[in-house]
Amino acid sequence: MLMLEQVAKRFGAVRALHPLDLAVEPGRTLVVIGPSGCGKSTLLGMMNGLVRPDSGRVIFDGEVLSPVTLMAARRRMGYVIQEGGLFPHLSAAANVTLLARTLGWPPDRVNARLEVLSALTHFPRPALARFPGELSGGQRQRLSLMRALMLDPELLLLDEPLGALDPLIRFELQVELREIFRSLGKTVVMVTHDLGEAAFFADTILLMRDGRVVQHGSINDLTQRPEDPFVTRFIEAQRGHWQTGDGAS
Ligand SMILES: Nc1ncnc2c1ncn2[C@@H]1O[C@H](COP(=O)(O)OP(=O)(O)O)[C@@H](O)[C@H]1O
Ligand SMILES: [Mg+2]
Repeated sequence: MLMLEQVAKRFGAVRALHPLDLAVEPGRTLVVIGPSGCGKSTLLGMMNGLVRPDSGRVIFDGEVLSPVTLMAARRRMGYVIQEGGLFPHLSAAANVTLLARTLGWPPDRVNARLEVLSALTHFPRPALARFPGELSGGQRQRLSLMRALMLDPELLLLDEPLGALDPLIRFELQVELREIFRSLGKTVVMVTHDLGEAAFFADTILLMRDGRVVQHGSINDLTQRPEDPFVTRFIEAQRGHWQTGDGAS
């Protein structure tokens, strides 16, 4: 579905990503994890073409992302950016449907899709008329997700989509989201900094540090066959959360 070949990115003196190769398999969930500043958001942004690699290439469904192919490719990807990226002056419904309306979907098709998505994400229908500032954190996260799903993309790129939620809501959304991904057969790349969440969603986990991949494998690979002492340190540091936690993280 998606291939990264030797992609690298620098911001001035900061090497956000060292040359990196990665293949994302269709229908699978890849979770990207690692300490703050290790390059997770940069990697996700590159998959969507929001961040241009300095070198290397990103191949989506057999086509290299370029200024020519980017717009069509993006319509097949749903992207939830780390801060949510909702338009504060648009209603919830208008946020979700903006792109479809821009593409000229007829109103009945737009409304039918909105109906499906609000049911799928358990977003309360009366709240669709409200502005993002009038919604709870959990509702805003659902809204960002509905917007990402609007065009029924094959690939979902989610940057800490459940960050900053209280534990109970977070747990409920985790369960619902995993069900959505499975039932729709989506290819998903999700960023988190929470190992429990990574283990819950992932087919494979990509652990990063300082702009490099430390290990890419299943949770069992990471816990039982660590390829670097950092893997074990990272897991140990999070163990308190995810083995004795409240089930949310
Ligand atoms: N637009 C930017 N300009 C300058 N530096 C950036 C920019 N985006 C990210 N960085 C830097 O690149 C590194 C990786 O950032 P990021 O990918 O956001 O990390 P993460 O999502 O893992 O926290 C950090 O050192 C960050 O400060
Ligand atoms: Mg980030």
